[in-house]
Amino acid sequence: MMQDLLNRPIRDLRISVTDKCNFRCKYCMPEEVFGFEYKFLARSDILTFEEIARVANLFMKLGVTKVRLTGGEPLLRQNLAGLIQQLSGIAGLRDLALTTNGYYLQQNAHSLRAAGLERITVSLDTLDANLFRKMAGRHLSLDTVLAGIDAAFTAGFTDVKVNTVVQRGVNEQEIIDLAEFGRRLGVTIRFIEYMDVGNLNKWRLEHVVPAGEILDIIRGKFSVGPLESNYRGEVARRYQYSDSKGEFGVIASVTAPFCGDCSRIRLSAEGKLFTCLFSADGVDLKSLIRGGASDAELQERIVAQWQQRSDRYSEERSEPNGQIVGRKVEMYQIGG
Ligand code: GTP
Ligand code: 5AD
Ligand code: SF4
Ligand code: SF4
Repeated sequence: MMQDLLNRPIRDLRISVTDKCNFRCKYCMPEEVFGFEYKFLARSDILTFEEIARVANLFMKLGVTKVRLTGGEPLLRQNLAGLIQQLSGIAGLRDLALTTNGYYLQQNAHSLRAAGLERITVSLDTLDANLFRKMAGRHLSLDTVLAGIDAAFTAGFTDVKVNTVVQRGVNEQEIIDLAEFGRRLGVTIRFIEYMDVGNLNKWRLEHVVPAGEILDIIRGKFSVGPLESNYRGEVARRYQYSDSKGEFGVIASVTAPFCGDCSRIRLSAEGKLFTCLFSADGVDLKSLIRGGASDAELQERIVAQWQQRSDRYSEERSEPNGQIVGRKVEMYQIGG
């Protein structure tokens, strides 16, 4: 089994299929920076489905069992179901999931399911239509996202999650509404501590609502108890409602980092491999691929990168004198 310098195996490959997004969440793609003239990657600069499937295949041989497709917004990529079909046939793949903002789920849920997608996570930070427009920008309609979630169930998805990034003074008052929404629909809401990813969101520790506080808010309304992790290295701590009306999760990447079990690697749309959400740079696999590298050569490069890996950014940030500076990859490039 291939391990990194901290004895962590590789398990989870996250593939960003596009850097584009139709949302302009302030913490990810602020409108001032990503205006209508913003130049996203050109078609020729992003990996083709064949290139992605080839790389994914190599990763499965190295121990990856789980693939999550992300973006930007992955449903902006033409015929994503075609890629899913290619990936779902790879031997060794046990879990194929998608993270989306949900806007185009309504029209895509059925074909995604038919292509072999197993799970969907929708990013949704509020159920208040006005706040939603403020947070996601571009006069977007909350109802379209909610219809997307419904469509996922109608299409036969049974494991639907919602990712909610909680920001102090922005959407912490939404926690109970979201919890109730999750209970009503059978959606697992995962409340996420706001993180210092990228270089654009002017993150400060005061903006974080700690997991403990999120839990206290929920406990103020519902009786809840802890659940065992689904698998080793799961980022969310799970809780169930005592009246057995479902579960929710809390992701405490700031107050209780989970680098010790981190078995994730990220492939950007541009074909770079990042071993941490907070990496400065990645290995340029695309150049190797387009330069004619054989499978064995690609695999050798991937193995070398993993074996040299010692990333534990979130833990380092919280250590005394753990202030970390320097440029980091942006969330919209690697999809969280
Ligand atoms: P499941 O397979 O459903 O358990 O989800 P997942 O592990 O694929 O998690 P997902 O991508 O939905 O992650 C939810 C959120 O957790 C992300 O949006 C990030 O905010 C945070 N997160 C996920 N992976 C990492 C990581 O490696 N490091 C840090 N610091 N945060 C992460
Ligand atoms: N902190 C925590 N989560 C974030 N996401 C985006 N930016 C941040 C951040 N700064 C989440 C999105 C989405 C996933 C891709 O990453 O809400 O669910
Ligand atoms: Fe788009 Fe997701 Fe970034 Fe929001 S957080 S701008 S939905 S990629
Ligand atoms: Fe993994 Fe880096 Fe996140 Fe730590 S900060 S859990 S090493 S991706």
